[in-house]
Amino acid sequence: MEKNIGKRFMEETKYKYAVESDQQKGLKQPPLQLEYSSDSNIIDLPEPKNIEIHSISLREAIENRKSLRKYSNQALTLEELSYLLWCTQGVKQVVSRPATIRTVPSAGARHAFETYLMINNVEGIKSGLYRFLAIEHKLIEVDLSDEIGSKVNDACFNQPMMEPSAVTFVWIAVAYRMKWRYGERSYRYYHLDAGHVCQNLYLAAEDIDSGVCAIAAFDDEKINNALNLDGLEQFTVYIATVGKK
Ligand SMILES: Cc1cc2nc3c(=O)[nH]c(=O)nc-3n(C[C@H](O)[C@H](O)[C@H](O)COP(=O)(O)O)c2cc1C
Repeated sequence: MEKNIGKRFMEETKYKYAVESDQQKGLKQPPLQLEYSSDSNIIDLPEPKNIEIHSISLREAIENRKSLRKYSNQALTLEELSYLLWCTQGVKQVVSRPATIRTVPSAGARHAFETYLMINNVEGIKSGLYRFLAIEHKLIEVDLSDEIGSKVNDACFNQPMMEPSAVTFVWIAVAYRMKWRYGERSYRYYHLDAGHVCQNLYLAAEDIDSGVCAIAAFDDEKINNALNLDGLEQFTVYIATVGKK
């Protein structure tokens, strides 16, 4: 790594260097969500408002939360998965700006993330890679090949929590959703936004007797290749495993 790249990044993404944004130039805003083919297999998720969770208090969730790297082999239910997706990226409203208003904050409500799930042990769902359609609150199948699990694990250096996890969340940025407004400063915001998302996962998991381990030690090329992302316009920002305690 170039020795001063971090310092240079902090310097050159200061507002004083901002140039006219694509939004200010009047260019078209990108879509709120990645497109998908309606021919793909789409899986309905239980409606968030109908999910009954035996909730613990927020204070208990905050105090109990810790990174968990060992999980029981009990599966997550589809309701529990739906709840975790709702708490991390759930869309509460699509407003006319247009923008999505979600359960987590995002700089300028740009919400540049898409959530991929590597599912290993969720009741009623085949193992494989899926993408969350946040606006519809559904899952779409991406890759159910035999190798996809080991590709994702390998991309995370085969850290010990990968293999036993019930599901691994992978948050990817669709860069232009943020850059359209914030230009190069967006690269700060992707990483700030991701912290909010993953913290909600940690806290929501406490509600369903599960644990989480955040992962930033991953091989960028390998994980982006596994998810078929170009690494520039779309790239992995953050990963987290989840499993039952
Ligand atoms: C940005 C970030 C990246 C992390 N990456 C990893 C990781 O790649 N592997 C891992 O085992 N833990 C990872 N962790 C978990 C930390 O090691 C953990 O939060 C820390 O040791 C404190 O423990 P606690 O979460 O139980 O309080 C990460 C945490 C954060 C916030």
